[in-house]
Amino acid sequence: MAKDSLTITDNRTGKSYELPIQNGAIRTADLRQIRTDEEDFGLMGYDPAFMNTASCASRITYIDGEKGILRYRGYPIEELAESATYLETAYLVLYGELPTKKQLEGWTHEVIFHTILHENVKKFIDGFHHDAHPMGMLVSTVAALSTFYPEAKHIFDAESRKKQTHRLIGKMPTLAAFAYRHSRGLPYAYPDNDLSYTGNFLNMLFKMTEVTYKPNPILERAVDVLFILHADHEQNCGTNAMRSVGSSHVDPYSAVAAAAAALYGPLHGGANEEVLRMLMQIGSKGNIPEFIKKVKAGEGRLMGFGHRVYKNYDPRAKIIKRIADQVFEVTGRNPLLDIAIELERIALEDDYFIKRKLYPNVDFYSGIIYQAMGFPMEMFPVLFAIPRTSGWVAQWEEMLLDSEQKIARPRQLYLGPAPRRYVPLDKR
Ligand code: ACO
Repeated sequence: MAKDSLTITDNRTGKSYELPIQNGAIRTADLRQIRTDEEDFGLMGYDPAFMNTASCASRITYIDGEKGILRYRGYPIEELAESATYLETAYLVLYGELPTKKQLEGWTHEVIFHTILHENVKKFIDGFHHDAHPMGMLVSTVAALSTFYPEAKHIFDAESRKKQTHRLIGKMPTLAAFAYRHSRGLPYAYPDNDLSYTGNFLNMLFKMTEVTYKPNPILERAVDVLFILHADHEQNCGTNAMRSVGSSHVDPYSAVAAAAAALYGPLHGGANEEVLRMLMQIGSKGNIPEFIKKVKAGEGRLMGFGHRVYKNYDPRAKIIKRIADQVFEVTGRNPLLDIAIELERIALEDDYFIKRKLYPNVDFYSGIIYQAMGFPMEMFPVLFAIPRTSGWVAQWEEMLLDSEQKIARPRQLYLGPAPRRYVPLDKR
C-alpha cells in the first residue's frame, strides 16, 4: 500500500530506515540517525546554494516555476497588478488578507504618517560622496534607523513590530529619494501626505520649484504596479538574508539592511542596472549576433535572462512589458527597447537558451522603463528595495513566530587539512 514515507538502505551497513514524507519533503535532520557506528556524526544533506532545500514553511508567496505562476497569499499576481494598489498588496503580503476599506484607510494613514525622517538622518546622507551609489546610501541609512528606534529590538512585542513595520514601509521611499537628491546635488524634498504612496515618492524625487508636485497619473500607476510585482518573491537571496540575519533576533532595521545588501548584487536586484549597461554596450541591433556568440562562449551572461525558479517564463516580465507601452506613451520611446526586443527574439530562438530554459526575467524590461521615467541606473536596485521591504518584513515576522525556527546555522563538509602542528615563523 502507498505510504507517505521514504525507505533508505545504507549500503555501508545494510541497515534500512523509514523517513516520513510531509508536504513533499523529508526532514534532513531525520538523516542523522543513519550512522556507520556510535562515533559517526550521522548522514547530512549537502546542498550548496540551497538548490533543493526548503529552509522554512511559508504561507506568503506561491511560485510554480515550471508553469510561470506567482501568487501572494493565494491571489494571482496578474489580478493584483490589474486591480490593487501597492499599499493594499503590502497589507495583504504582511497580514494575510486583503484589507477592508476601513483597514486600508488605517494602514495608509499609519504608513504615510511615518514617511518623515529624523533630521539627523539627513546628516548621514550629507556625509556621502556626491557620486556615492544610492543603494550603498540606502543600506547604510536603513541600518542607522535602528539607532533612532532602539525599542525596535523588542522583536517579540507585537505592537513594537507593528510600529517598525509602519516606519520601514513609510521611510524606505524617503531614504531612497533623499539618496537620489543628494547624488544630484538637489535640496531634499519633504513628503507630501496628500499624495499616494508612489505619488509622494515621485514628489520627493522630482519636485523642483513648484509649490505642489502633481505626479503624472500614468507614471504614478506604473510605479505602483512595478512595486506590486516586486513586493515578495519567497525565498530569494535577499529574503533568505532577511530571515537568516533576523534569526539572530537582531532588530528589523539591521535585518532589512542585510537583505538590501543582498539585493544590491548584480545577480539579484542589481540585474536591471546590468541589463541597461549591457544594452548600451551592444549599442545597435546589428551587434546582437556577435554579443550572443560571446555569451554562448561563456564570455559574460545575458543579463535579465534566466531564473533559479522560473524555467518557463517569469509572469512579472509579461506584465512589465505591457506597462512599458503605457509609460512610453508619456515619456517617448526608449531607444534601448528596440535592442531589447530583438535580443529577446534572437535568444528565444537560440538552442543554447532554449535548452537551459532561459527566459527574460523581471529585470529585463524594468530598467528600460525606469530609465525612460528619468531614473538614473544607480537607482534601479533602490526601486526594487522599496517595495520588497513589505515582503522582507512579512517573512521576518513569519520566521519569528514559527516555533520550529531557530538561529539559522548551516552545517559544512570540512575538506581542509587534517590536524597538524604549528610551525614557528623561522621554520616556514
Ligand atoms: N546568460 C547566459 N547563460 C546563462 C544565464 C544567462 N543569463 N543564466 C544561466 N545561464 C546558463 C549557465 O551558464 C548554465 O549553463 P551550463 O549548464 O552550460 O553551465 C545554465 O544556464 C544554468 O545556470 P545557473 O547559473 O546554474 O543557474 P542559476 O539558477 O544558478 O542562476 C541566475 C540563476 C543567477 C538568475 C542566472 O540565470 C543569471 O545569472 N542571470 C543573469 C542575471 C539576472 O538577470 N539576475 C536577475 C534574476 S531575477 C532577480 O533577482 C529579481
